[in-house]
Amino acid sequence: AGRIRFNAAPMGWSSWNRYGGEVNQSLVKAIADAMVSNGMKDAGYQYVNIDDGWMKGRDAHGNIQADPRKFPDGMKALADYIHAKGLKLGIYLANYTVTCIGRGGGGVLYTGSLGHEAEDVRTVTSWGVDLIKYDDCDGTAGSFDAIRNALDSFARDSGKTVYLDIPYVTRLDQFIHTPDSWAAMDIGDSARIASDVRATWASIRHNIDIARVLAPAYVEPGFVIDMDSLEIGNGSLTPAEAQTHMSIWAMMSAPLIAGNDLTLDNGALGLLTNREVIAIDQDPLHFAASEIALRPGPQGDTHVLAKPLSRTGSRAVALLNEGDIEARIKVKFADLGLAKSPASVRDVWAHKDLGVFSSSYEATVAPHGTSLLVIQGQEPALSGSVR
Ligand code: GLA
Repeated sequence: AGRIRFNAAPMGWSSWNRYGGEVNQSLVKAIADAMVSNGMKDAGYQYVNIDDGWMKGRDAHGNIQADPRKFPDGMKALADYIHAKGLKLGIYLANYTVTCIGRGGGGVLYTGSLGHEAEDVRTVTSWGVDLIKYDDCDGTAGSFDAIRNALDSFARDSGKTVYLDIPYVTRLDQFIHTPDSWAAMDIGDSARIASDVRATWASIRHNIDIARVLAPAYVEPGFVIDMDSLEIGNGSLTPAEAQTHMSIWAMMSAPLIAGNDLTLDNGALGLLTNREVIAIDQDPLHFAASEIALRPGPQGDTHVLAKPLSRTGSRAVALLNEGDIEARIKVKFADLGLAKSPASVRDVWAHKDLGVFSSSYEATVAPHGTSLLVIQGQEPALSGSVR
């Protein structure tokens, strides 16, 4: 029997973007508390992911250990705390002798899992870990089969499937497919498509540009692309850029993993918890959007991205303006694969029906902004019949 696949991308929080290696027990508990009290849990955010920096060496039996200074009560107690809140625990491991923090030379060396894959899976699953991010900094480490096999045998013994996220396949962001990039789909439940996201427009745009070219070829039932954690609430993204960030991650059915400090202002919280946007991300078909129109502009291109939603005749559509000046962007219903008939248009961010239009819809979109729509029409009648 094949392994159990997940039917939607995970939603949660990760320590890396905001805290780097400065992770500890009280931070993680405070994050779990905040996710419950600020409405993120109710909106669907589930995983609390401890990224790099939590580990410190191995015990006499070779078991990987949490740094007792950072996690004085141990990881099992922390997992219990998180589970008691109805949330899940994710943890970072690395496919090398040390983790990625130590690879750049200098600084602390944290314990890696190369050669210890089976025992590290045993250890973290005994704590109750629900998700593993298995990292690899530069593609020089061994294969990912060992971690996949360890998780498969854990699933056979326990009946529990642990989510596995794997790092980005080198050269994917140069649009070069290698056997490794296809293999990623068999190993992970998601794989990163680019190097680390930053809270800058250049970085968000870079990840979007890779995703809009690659995602249709990679995303399949049970596998999604990881566009990396969200930078909403960090750095100095404009409101339009933050909205584009969230919109396109949702269009790609990508993991929604918040990366901020959770002392959020209402703007950031509103972006993260918009129910209709989350529904696009979590739609049970979990298709990735395809580009259906591209118009080069003197100060940046405009794009129309679209994907079918599970409701009959329904399409999610993003009018994306990568340009530095305001732009008019049009979606033609004929390009959506719908029957030739009028369709109703809903503005997802505004929760507002915009009306019924006969063959197209056009909007003015702010620089670096996205207008996110649900267009409801009719599926075309299929010609011929299949027996
Ligand atoms: C790599 C990953 C990041 C983060 C760091 C931790 O750079 O891509 O997401 O996990 O390692 O060191």
